[in-house]
Amino acid sequence: MTWQPNSWRDRPILQVPDYPNEDKVASVEAKLAAMPPLVFAGEAQRLRDQLGAVAEGKAFLLQGGDCAESFAEFSANNIRDSFRVLLQMAVVLTFGAAMPVVKIGRLAGQFAKPRSAPTEVIDGIELPSYRGDMVNAMGFTDEERTPDPKRLLRVYEQSAATLNLLRAFAQGGLADLTKVHSWVVGFLRDTPEAARFEELAGRIQESLEFMRACGVTPETARPLAETDFYTSHEALLLNYEQALTRRDTITDEQGWYATSAHMIWIGDRTRQPHGAHVEYMKGIANPIGLKCGPSLDPDELSRLIDVLNPDNTPGRLTLIARMGADKVRTGLPPLVKAVQKSGAKVVWCCDPMHGNTIKASTGFKTRRVDDIMAEVRGFFEVHDEIGSHPGGVHFEMTGQNVTECVGGVVDVTEARLGDRYHTHCDPRLNGGQALELAFLIAHLLKKRRDTGLSLSEAV
Ligand code: PEP
Ligand code: CO
Repeated sequence: MTWQPNSWRDRPILQVPDYPNEDKVASVEAKLAAMPPLVFAGEAQRLRDQLGAVAEGKAFLLQGGDCAESFAEFSANNIRDSFRVLLQMAVVLTFGAAMPVVKIGRLAGQFAKPRSAPTEVIDGIELPSYRGDMVNAMGFTDEERTPDPKRLLRVYEQSAATLNLLRAFAQGGLADLTKVHSWVVGFLRDTPEAARFEELAGRIQESLEFMRACGVTPETARPLAETDFYTSHEALLLNYEQALTRRDTITDEQGWYATSAHMIWIGDRTRQPHGAHVEYMKGIANPIGLKCGPSLDPDELSRLIDVLNPDNTPGRLTLIARMGADKVRTGLPPLVKAVQKSGAKVVWCCDPMHGNTIKASTGFKTRRVDDIMAEVRGFFEVHDEIGSHPGGVHFEMTGQNVTECVGGVVDVTEARLGDRYHTHCDPRLNGGQALELAFLIAHLLKKRRDTGLSLSEAV
């Protein structure tokens, strides 16, 4: 049987909303199918090639952004600040790794959330769980919690506007390396992270002046003036993905592409080998991700790799490990060894967020910066011991000064969590915490180079 964008409809599916009126869903799907693609096949292929370099140990991946984008937090300033912090992190990591850093946002499409329970009970009242703004609203009323398919259209529109702005930032001047000093977001000024970043920015400025004297300027060398920035999200609502799946008519590959984002991934709760999500993802030619949590066993992972990347194309598949700080040293090695033994070419990326969520005494869902860093450290150690490449990191973060994760140099305490807790789902790193982690990871990357572990030394 040949794969079609709707083949997934014959498979068992998890985490789908229960819409009250299926005709209205079909009408929205038809409207989406008539909309222009958000991204193009050529861009997805370019990302796949760049991730191929990551798989070979010649580049590093930085993926980051919101846990869940929302209609309420949508603003040009929010997008700009997340973009600036990601650029800052990328520069810090570039210094540490002495390799190109591939930048992918959890942005412009990250609106749907898998939930551990289909309903929520408060004061004896049971309502559907909030599944992200793509499905329903957060307020605890029957009306707000009822899934509404029109939200899919609003997600498409907000994603298009976000992507438009990101393209302008990436290619229209903000990412120009000569403007590196302007990437420090307002609230970070006068913090220790900003001071460290300023020192680095000064070194970049000095190098640029030297290069200018040699005749290399942003006007003559494109990579100095602009950057590649890609988008990604969890492909949870397959009817939305199907409507935006298009055959590539421009490049020579002629395959099917998800055009909702450059990269999409399969969540830890929807990775059943015979399930709908795996079925959909196997047929698209984009680079894809697969979340690997503690319940994934090595044989199942090997099976999933065979299904999702049968040609063993480097850059096609990114394995996003999210074990938790306490499990990474025991849970990850069997998976890395299985991949190594099979010769599968994958990117190994560390998501130190989703295995480290705890409930604070004040009731807020939070994460400790120390646990996040401990998982990253464990991830590096496991790869070093096995002789595999730790390819990248995946964060839930924002450029804003939120108080959602505890710890960090400018300490967010449990008692302060309520001050600026704005997330629509999981707790995100604020701009300062994100930058601080980037410095720590850069240090780990530099240590690998110094001890000769990094493959980049060999090429
Ligand atoms: C996520 O990345 O937001 C997420 C839900 O992750 P996971 O599938 O790993 O739990
Ligand atoms: Co999350």
